[in-house]
Amino acid sequence: EEPPAETAVPQAGQDGLVLLRRVGAVDPSSLDDYRAHGGYTALREAFALGPAGVIREVTDSGLVGRGGAAFPTGRKWQATASQPDRPHYVVCNADESEPGTFKDRVLMEGDPYALVEAMTIAAYAVGAHRGYLYLRGEYPRATSRMQHAVDQARARGLLGDDILGQGHSFDIEIRRGAGAYVCGEETALFNSIEGYRGEPRSKPPFPVEKGLFGKPTVENNVETLVNVLPILTMGAAAYAAIGTARSTGPKLFCVSGAVERPGVHELPFGATLGELLESAGVRDRLRAVLLGGAAGGFVRPDELDLPLTFEGTREAGTTLGSGVVMAFDDTVPLPRLLLRIAEFFRDESCGQCVPCRVGTVRQEEALRRIAERTGAAAAEDVALLREVGRAMRDASICGLGQTAWNAVESAIDRLGAYE
Ligand code: NAI
Ligand code: SF4
Repeated sequence: EEPPAETAVPQAGQDGLVLLRRVGAVDPSSLDDYRAHGGYTALREAFALGPAGVIREVTDSGLVGRGGAAFPTGRKWQATASQPDRPHYVVCNADESEPGTFKDRVLMEGDPYALVEAMTIAAYAVGAHRGYLYLRGEYPRATSRMQHAVDQARARGLLGDDILGQGHSFDIEIRRGAGAYVCGEETALFNSIEGYRGEPRSKPPFPVEKGLFGKPTVENNVETLVNVLPILTMGAAAYAAIGTARSTGPKLFCVSGAVERPGVHELPFGATLGELLESAGVRDRLRAVLLGGAAGGFVRPDELDLPLTFEGTREAGTTLGSGVVMAFDDTVPLPRLLLRIAEFFRDESCGQCVPCRVGTVRQEEALRRIAERTGAAAAEDVALLREVGRAMRDASICGLGQTAWNAVESAIDRLGAYE
């Protein structure tokens, strides 16, 4: 069984934390303890602002999605709120499955009421009365803690009808995933909740217009929603002063691999990769860092001054994704690592579209040939990888196929993996 949330937070108890400040400090089973640590002040603030005021604060804060794609949250909420079609839904994506990502688990296990409160605020802002929390099936502790928090909130009038006497009604249903990576893609997730196969739908239409049950839906990642609490309690301007102008606020990074203090680290956007690795105690002989997980890309040890922002990583030709920072030293055989990543994508492809269904198989075959040839690559295998990779990126329906070649490409181009 995984260790509990607080042991995965090396900074637990330190001053200045925003998102992690209650993890390890509150009893996650106690609503009273949550309130004693500032819980439910953001919801009161939301009721004082009104739905349009909440959306304005979220927009002004500059908050963008923390699931990996960095779409502006305020725009998403506004687009859903303005749809005449009813009902509206709120869906929290807690199907955290990107290899190396575990921040949402830590938040749900360590501070579960925060997510209940944040979903209630999102629902109030967009006019939804029903919310779904789609929780990764491999997270039993997070599921039981979230279920307990939902039940307690309902028993105490913080979910259900007329919350805090403000006339707003909202309730949350928890659905467990069954182990498919693709069900974290928002439209596959909707299909899964609706009882269909977890296959992505074509976008557009975007979920803000036609989402769960074909109705306007706000779908947000756990960390994204939890950010709404400090936005409302400290105000959009104070929140936006954290981080950089284009990547505002605090960010959770999931650090693993060749470091002394693996776990979830909170830093303001704009810290460099080197600063983060230093605080995590990076070991000697660093060979590469994988940013953004299997769907992300590798950077070299001489690129540690890279600023950890969405714009900085994009400009450097890589991605921050969901905040994965996986450090590899030179004891890890790169060709085998790349083969492992390719196996993962082949295994997780839902098979709905040809470029991904066939491409992930061809990619794995080529990488296996290379790995079995003790790591040396024939020129034709690298050419094939590039051709297949381009087809997957350009022609796949969803993010899984579109990103299945990212890590391999970056290993070839940035690390000189097969030279
Ligand atoms: P996307 O860029 O298609 O969409 C991002 C969000 O913005 C979605 O909610 C989408 O509905 C919304 N959106 C985009 N354009 C819109 C528009 N014009 N109007 C209204 N809404 C709009 O990206 P996607 O496929 O949702 O996510 C890809 C990311 O997911 C990758 O960056 C990857 O790093 C990350 N990822 C994260 C995982 C995790 O476990 N956290 C697992 C796998 C991938
Ligand atoms: Fe399925 Fe892959 Fe196509 Fe996504 S890209 S719909 S996972 S086959």
